[in-house]
Amino acid sequence: MKKTTILLSAIIVIIGFYACSHPPFAPATHATHDTLNANTTVVIPPDTTHTPEPVDTSVCFQRDILPIFLGSCAMSGCHSAASRKDGYTLTTYATITAKGLVKGNAASSKLYTVCKNNSMPQNPIAKLDSTQLSLLKRWINNGANNDTNCAVNCDTTKYTYSGAIAPMMKTYCTSCHATASAASAGGGIILDTYAAILVQAQNGKLLGDISHNTGFNYMPLGGAKLSDCKITQVSKWIAAGAPNN
Ligand code: HEC
Repeated sequence: MKKTTILLSAIIVIIGFYACSHPPFAPATHATHDTLNANTTVVIPPDTTHTPEPVDTSVCFQRDILPIFLGSCAMSGCHSAASRKDGYTLTTYATITAKGLVKGNAASSKLYTVCKNNSMPQNPIAKLDSTQLSLLKRWINNGANNDTNCAVNCDTTKYTYSGAIAPMMKTYCTSCHATASAASAGGGIILDTYAAILVQAQNGKLLGDISHNTGFNYMPLGGAKLSDCKITQVSKWIAAGAPNN
């Protein structure tokens, strides 16, 4: 008992010494996310009363990253499973993260740097734009996780041209259907201006193609069918007269 008391007193004295040896008025610093992650373990008690908030959903693999690879890289002759140019298959989470990607470090990841320096995608596929590059960079720097619990960024009650239709074309279609790439990669069909999209909306091909209706060319070519929510947005926009809103 006595030994323990002495030992405890010694520990308290040592702790006291170290505590007092710190400058008394050290400037207050705000911990950044990085320092918090590195130095502390925050235990959050399970919340049984509310549905948990989704985790950081500002960039999400299934929603934001996979469509970039499928739309701009995974086509036949390039990085499809059959073509595997330079050994890169860019069709699934497993294959995308298998080569040229350093989790947590976009600057050291070839998959990012070749897009950043515009050597990929190769002509006639359009280069990634600054939004796509930023998403790719943030996703890799966040750890290149296989995020599937993405907040749904699709709402069938919102279907304006600028808010829903143009961004959808940008994400899923303009790698082949941009003005610059359409002739060689998109059968001459342009989908990066309102006027050109309107033509495909009015002739029925836009909705028929993305709905995979019999007799149409299924779009996106070689990619997964768009979600029902997105197809509904296009359908409602066309039914409303395909306005430039
Ligand atoms: C990988 C390249 C690629 C992507 C991505 C792509 N397309 Fe196409 N698209 C083509 C090609 C090539 C054609 C020419 C027809 C063909 O060969 O099937 C075409 C044709 C079309 C046509 C005309 C079809 C017809 O019946 O005349 C429409 C409309 C179209 N695409 C819409 C879209 C939409 C909408 C998306 C995105 C949701 C999309 N495409 C994504 C390559 C692509």
